[in-house]
Amino acid sequence: MFMYKLNDGQQIPDFGFGTYKLNGRTGVQSIVSAINNGYTMIDTAYNYENEGTVGRAISESGIDRDKLTVTSKLPGRYYAYDDAITALQESLYRAHLDYFDLYLLHWPNPKKGMYVEAWQALIDAQKFGLVKSIGVCNFLPEHLEKLQKETGILPAINQIELHPYFNQKSMRDFDHDNGIVTMDWSPLGRASAVLKNPLLTALGEKYHKSVGQIILRWEHQLDTIPIPKSASPVRQRENMNIFDFEISNIDMEKINALTKSDGRNKDQDPAVYEEF
Ligand SMILES: NC(=O)c1ccc[n+]([C@@H]2O[C@H](COP(=O)([O-])OP(=O)(O)OC[C@H]3O[C@@H](n4cnc5c(N)ncnc54)[C@H](OP(=O)(O)O)[C@@H]3O)[C@@H](O)[C@H]2O)c1
Repeated sequence: MFMYKLNDGQQIPDFGFGTYKLNGRTGVQSIVSAINNGYTMIDTAYNYENEGTVGRAISESGIDRDKLTVTSKLPGRYYAYDDAITALQESLYRAHLDYFDLYLLHWPNPKKGMYVEAWQALIDAQKFGLVKSIGVCNFLPEHLEKLQKETGILPAINQIELHPYFNQKSMRDFDHDNGIVTMDWSPLGRASAVLKNPLLTALGEKYHKSVGQIILRWEHQLDTIPIPKSASPVRQRENMNIFDFEISNIDMEKINALTKSDGRNKDQDPAVYEEF
């Protein structure tokens, strides 16, 4: 597995596992299965109410902690400095971990005007050793520029909605030009209509791969990090099995052309959408 070098010197894998909706005992079983299937990066969040599930799965899997990259996220309701540090400590406590490898601001919530204060808390949390790397989700260029201007420190990662119907070309370019690695949420479009797209179906037949594998390989070749979620051990293995073929430049361009300006799954534009 290829490792991305981040702007703070840390390294993270080029492929990860999403855990939204994996909760409780069945969630533990799915995450243990993902670890046994070879996933080494696990994405959780305070708001998924499954940091405990993830921690339990890590300990039941028996894997060494330092072989895993574990990500969690701070919800917008805790963006005041002291609240952020407390929420992070509580998340670690629930996950039975001493540190997160990656810790992200979940949404910019720009109308609230608190994300710079929360970012300062993450900068300090990294110094305290509570997290190895810090980043954001759903940040637009104006939000990133503000972090740079006010703190002098840019995120290592920007985790954004990215799939063939919303390929985020300009945001990816901005991240890349600023040394920020792009990570893809809902990389399979959350199993929406994109999985039935005729072009992707035809490319699946051409490359002898499933539509999901075509999409995840395309995201890999865009130099982004997909983090597909699957409760199913079979689909977990299928999703990881994308490193034995290459999509041609012509076919990459055809997939790139599927993007739509209104292609977000749920119309969650970070300029206006808020989540706490
Ligand atoms: N930062 C943010 O704001 C944010 C927002 C959303 C999500 N996320 C993170 O990103 C992760 C991934 O995104 P997501 O969960 O929204 O969506 P996703 O990974 O694009 O899709 C998950 C859905 O696809 C199905 N699926 C998985 N593999 C498949 C395959 N090979 N063929 C057909 N269907 C398949 C899954 O069903 P089964 O489980 O039954 O296989 C599930 O219904 C989340 O779990 C979460 O960790 C972050």
